[in-house]
Amino acid sequence: MGNNLLKGKRGIIFGALDEQSIAWKIAEQCAEEGASITLTNAPVALRFGQVNALADKLGAPLIPADATSEEDLEKLIKESMEHLGGKLDFILHSIGMSVNVRKKREYTNLNYEWMKTTFDVSAISFHKVMQTAMKLDAMNEYGSILALTYIAAQRSFPDYNEMAEAKALLESFARSFGYHWAVKNKVRVNTVSQSPTMTTAGQGVKGFKEFFDYSDKMSPLGNASAEDCAKYCITLFSDYTRMVTMQNLYHDGGFSNMGMNPAVLNQ
Ligand SMILES: NC(=O)c1ccc[n+]([C@@H]2O[C@H](COP(=O)([O-])OP(=O)(O)OC[C@H]3O[C@@H](n4cnc5c(N)ncnc54)[C@H](O)[C@@H]3O)[C@@H](O)[C@H]2O)c1
Repeated sequence: MGNNLLKGKRGIIFGALDEQSIAWKIAEQCAEEGASITLTNAPVALRFGQVNALADKLGAPLIPADATSEEDLEKLIKESMEHLGGKLDFILHSIGMSVNVRKKREYTNLNYEWMKTTFDVSAISFHKVMQTAMKLDAMNEYGSILALTYIAAQRSFPDYNEMAEAKALLESFARSFGYHWAVKNKVRVNTVSQSPTMTTAGQGVKGFKEFFDYSDKMSPLGNASAEDCAKYCITLFSDYTRMVTMQNLYHDGGFSNMGMNPAVLNQ
């Protein structure tokens, strides 16, 4: 049972692919907290993923959109406002994909055309979502826009490859666009920097299982789960965080402030 933290609020959730997806857990929590949502994913993900089952379960409209296509985004946002009966209170961007990682290219031998696609899908799409929503005047005052990120934007994690730069760009868009949204109609924009999580995107990273275990030991509270991430995101969509904007917020069990943890040394 939820606490009605999002009662009466409307939002769009990008990126639920299967039950492991962080966006899947966030969509479930949004519904539990009383929000009305639309779900969206790339057309290809709708064919191969399980998001239809989530849409059925939550009674949420499912609207396909390639997040790199401004045309798709415009259609998505307009249709979402129609379905939900008004302007939006929150948007979750939970999208990540690296072509070079998929094709197992090392960081010192990257294909730059693929890199452009990685940046477009994983970061520039966030700017496109925000710009489209602003042009359509789609957000209510004190709305909340969130994207999920990883600490490789700040520190070196060699196997994270070009996604490190994609996340740095994503976080920078949150700060820069956060200013414009705040001035326009007090909408806040933040990124949540989440622990390694066992999902399709996460497990695409080389050596992910070993790294997941290392991170779990290094973090005094352990890795944060997708369910806990969902709870944190709910607070950021709620009215309890109305003055938080342009921030990169770590949700990582303390990992980001650790130097050395004896639990790792003792292994
Ligand atoms: N899993 C982790 O360890 C971890 C840690 C920190 C941050 N994150 C971030 O969380 C977010 C969600 O990833 P996840 O771990 O839940 O994995 P996931 O694979 O379940 O989600 C990634 C989603 O991106 C969608 N997507 C890809 N290309 C798209 C496009 N062109 N248009 C629209 N959607 C597209 C996929 O269909 C999928 O639903 C990503 O930004 C990821 O980088 C993940």
